[in-house]
Amino acid sequence: MSEKRLPYARVGIVGAGQLGLMLCDAARRLGIATCVLDADSDSPAFVRADEAIVGDRFDPQALRKLAAASDVITFEIEHADTETLADLQASGTAVRPSATVLDTVRDKWRQRAALERAGVPGPNALLWSEEGDDSSPADAPLDPPFVQKLRFGGYDGRGVKIIRLEDDKPLPGASLVEELVDIRCEVAVLVARTPSGQELAYPPVRMEFDPEANICTRCLLPAGLKSDVAERCRTVAIEAVRALGAVGICAVELFVTGDGRVLVNELAPRPHNSGHLTIEASATGQFEQHLRAILDLPLGSVDTVRAAVMVNVLGGDSTGSPAVSGYEELLALPEAHLHLYDKRPSKPGRKMGHLTVCAGRLEGAVEIAGRAEALFRLNGHSADRREHGTR
Ligand SMILES: Nc1ncnc2c1ncn2[C@@H]1O[C@H](COP(=O)(O)OP(=O)(O)OP(=O)(O)O)[C@@H](O)[C@H]1O
Ligand SMILES: [Mg+2]
Repeated sequence: MSEKRLPYARVGIVGAGQLGLMLCDAARRLGIATCVLDADSDSPAFVRADEAIVGDRFDPQALRKLAAASDVITFEIEHADTETLADLQASGTAVRPSATVLDTVRDKWRQRAALERAGVPGPNALLWSEEGDDSSPADAPLDPPFVQKLRFGGYDGRGVKIIRLEDDKPLPGASLVEELVDIRCEVAVLVARTPSGQELAYPPVRMEFDPEANICTRCLLPAGLKSDVAERCRTVAIEAVRALGAVGICAVELFVTGDGRVLVNELAPRPHNSGHLTIEASATGQFEQHLRAILDLPLGSVDTVRAAVMVNVLGGDSTGSPAVSGYEELLALPEAHLHLYDKRPSKPGRKMGHLTVCAGRLEGAVEIAGRAEALFRLNGHSADRREHGTR
């Protein structure tokens, strides 16, 4: 057993949103120092990190500065200057996951092609349009109905469109098409993978979406799948992460179809919204697990300790400084854990926080989460109120 001075390691995080914030909190607990990089100096993780650099993720200088402050660079967002990251890697900086993984994942076509080559099951997909094309669905390589996906830059359902008719207007930009899958439910499996080859998959989490906004609103653990389907989800997720060679936490979004097949939708090579409930519901939370994995430390148990429901706290109708109602009533509920991200301003639909309700059984958690959703609100106030509690 060797002695090591603290901090145990310095982790540089590209991006400083809520995922960065929760990584910083987990790091602090483990005696690990953090440095975050973000162009917006109001980013929520800035006050939780040990060090913060105001700079763009696509600015080589800013990334070099982050590398100088870190033993390992990791990400809360996969969009960054991968050329500079590859240079840094070549000159000995540990970049985890690697620049190659980021390059593959952020292009939905390359990602799909890499998974297909490795034999990982997914929807049938074909390349469609180039940047600047004005193709119509009649020219697409699949007949409607199909799903159009922009190759780059989509998130929270932006960049994905279901084309049902030949005269539907497609999204502009380079894209692929996928068969429209008959989805019975959407789940995510978090996979933790270390540089030395340890691999663990969490039990699947069921994701529910707002059909209008296409944003994930609730996550449930356990996912309520038959045990053989749940096991299949974990196996397919590990295969997908191995195929891409990602390390750290990687979230694998899966479709379970009406006829019981498990298909990979896409990967996120970082902690993920679907894993927030692991903080309270699992033996090891995803943020701690990500740090363990990128530092090649022993992975923690992925066992579920409590059933849980996670609800995203989205900004209400108006924009402005955040105000909450139902706060005391929410905290009176048993095992309701509130996480606010300290984002300003609150905007309609913006992810401002989340709450996780745990219980011995999922039904209990669902019931209490329903009450929590009905009574708790976060809204923006246009007047900048400076009473206590606001800033
Ligand atoms: N081939 C498909 N068939 C049917 N529905 C699909 C298909 N692909 C995507 N969808 C639906 O569209 C949603 C968004 O797709 P996808 O996850 O690829 O986009 P995204 O913008 O990266 O989303 P997010 O950032 O929320 O993960 C999926 O969760 C699913 O509900
Ligand atoms: Mg997705």
